[in-house]
Amino acid sequence: MEDDWDGIAEWYAELVRGGSAMHRFSRDILLKALPVNVIGLDVLDVGCGEGIVSRGLAGLGARVVGVDPTRALVAHAEAAERANPTGAVYRVDDGSSLQTVPDDSVDGVTAALSMNNIADLDAALKSVRRVLRPGGFLVFTVPHPCFEAPATETISTPGGVRRAVGDYFAEGLWRSTHPHSVRRAGNYHRTISTYVTAVLGLGFVLRSLDEPAPSDEVRAEAPHRLGLPPFLVISATFQ
Ligand SMILES: C[S@@+](CC[C@H](N)C(=O)[O-])C[C@H]1O[C@@H](n2cnc3c(N)ncnc32)[C@H](O)[C@@H]1O
Repeated sequence: MEDDWDGIAEWYAELVRGGSAMHRFSRDILLKALPVNVIGLDVLDVGCGEGIVSRGLAGLGARVVGVDPTRALVAHAEAAERANPTGAVYRVDDGSSLQTVPDDSVDGVTAALSMNNIADLDAALKSVRRVLRPGGFLVFTVPHPCFEAPATETISTPGGVRRAVGDYFAEGLWRSTHPHSVRRAGNYHRTISTYVTAVLGLGFVLRSLDEPAPSDEVRAEAPHRLGLPPFLVISATFQ
């Protein structure tokens, strides 16, 4: 049977809780790309998973709601909140519709490594636009589309360990065959231009597009990351 998010939820929660350097890095680069100080702001964290980014936002002083369709991950986020209260609240909801979130109700939206799990990017961005107050922001990260494209692999060469880029133009659903990859649950590959065109096409103003170099901690955990950005970070606002 193929993996899905319900199937890998316990594994994923344990991975993040276990102190995964990649997930700490992913959280830190997203928080660094926030275009404003979030103290006292209402921030929605889409695809919050077990809550690592929601807790980070709450730690910066935001009023946070985290939503995710994977019930088991929401339960983990709630359990973490009960153990160490930050003020973040969590709900089961799908990023493509955000049915539980009223129009014009938040100052900012974050989505850490979740937009690539949503089949309909335009629907997700329209939902973000609907719930944002005027001037609100959207910051999201995705696995770097160039180096995490379908059929990309790590290979040994005489010059060292390298990423051999696979099918960059093969947009759509794909599954990693690696038993320890998050993307074995299935995710949607899109080119960088698809992401940027969608964001601009829906009227967002692009504030920054970053490709942060892996931290020392990430390079120690995953030496094949040396010299390559693991994630793409897009920061935009809506007037
Ligand atoms: C790689 S995890 C990231 C979780 C969390 N943001 C983090 O940084 O650890 C991807 C998340 O996307 C969620 N997801 C899957 N389908 C989704 C959808 N349609 N809308 C929103 N989130 C979705 C999964 O349940 C999972 O929590």
